Amino acid sequence: MADVLLTVRGLEVSYLTADGPVRAVEGVSFDLRRGEVLGLVGESGSGKSTLVRGLLRVLEPPGAITGGDVHFDGIDLLAASEDALRALRWRRISIVPQAALNALNPVLTVGAQIVETLDAHGETSPTRARARAAEVLELVGIDPTHLRSYPHELSGGMRQRVALGLALACGADLVVMDEPTTALDVVVEHELLQRVAALQAQRGFAVLFITHDLLLLDALADRVGVLYSGRLVEIGPADVLARGGRHPYTRGLRAAIPPALGEDRVPVALDGSSPNLRSPPSGCRFHPRCAAADAACRVTETTRRELGPGHLVASHEEAP
Ligand SMILES: Nc1ncnc2c1ncn2[C@@H]1O[C@H](COP(=O)(O)OP(=O)(O)OP(=O)(O)O)[C@@H](O)[C@H]1O
Ligand SMILES: [Mg+2]
Repeated sequence: MADVLLTVRGLEVSYLTADGPVRAVEGVSFDLRRGEVLGLVGESGSGKSTLVRGLLRVLEPPGAITGGDVHFDGIDLLAASEDALRALRWRRISIVPQAALNALNPVLTVGAQIVETLDAHGETSPTRARARAAEVLELVGIDPTHLRSYPHELSGGMRQRVALGLALACGADLVVMDEPTTALDVVVEHELLQRVAALQAQRGFAVLFITHDLLLLDALADRVGVLYSGRLVEIGPADVLARGGRHPYTRGLRAAIPPALGEDRVPVALDGSSPNLRSPPSGCRFHPRCAAADAACRVTETTRRELGPGHLVASHEEAP
């Protein structure tokens, strides 16, 4: 059994709009090993959702994959038929989409839709599916009496937790979570992420975890990738990135985090905003916001350089 579960090479995703293509993901490459937790971080609009929706083939028009290669356990995901993809979903790859709080069917009770999903994706016995539905809710700290509730009777955070529980309970080898805790307060978020980590350690599924919160990945992820303006600017072991990382954008994200209690540090906000993808900056996309930018950064495209084992940074030949 190969160690690598998911391979992404040179992935390109664009939105083919009437005003021309918007290149939202450009040349993104990474591997995800079995049982590994990979965090993907970046500001709003950096292409996190586009990247995962593209590689899982759940992108809606005008979004389109315009290049690259994605393999999941030897299966070519970009060439796979809809039937082949359906067979993989939930059973082998489960997804907690962004805004999962709106993903539930409003006319079905929570219990009915959990049973329906478990039924449709491998659970053959209705009795077992019902028992497992209660487990799904318990997994994410919701009282199983809510199996009889309709989605509108739950809070946004509770709905988000149901979607997360369902994705975790399906026994997939890969669970993809796109900002799964955005509707939750920090206490519930912390508790839920601890449950996810415990379950992941116990069952050994791989996780692709998307967030804009770098701090959250320090504890959760084995490796962290940083997206900026559709490009993966740095990827490396979580402990290396926790110490600051190498790319000026990674460092900027870290410097902007408010200090922990007792930490002697003044947060420095990242100036400016992420570029409009219709007219992205030349050279290194980050150069207009980078204090260390020089003439080369403005004109020369960056290349990926390996700084250490599994630690890659988009940079210029002379730097860093
Ligand atoms: N339908 C669309 N047409 C044109 N451009 C789009 C469309 N949907 C998304 N984009 C652009 O693609 C880029 C990436 O969007 P995406 O939703 O992937 O970002 P994100 O990193 O997930 O952001 P967030 O943290 O806000 O969820 C953005 O610049 C956005 O403007
Ligand atoms: Mg998103």
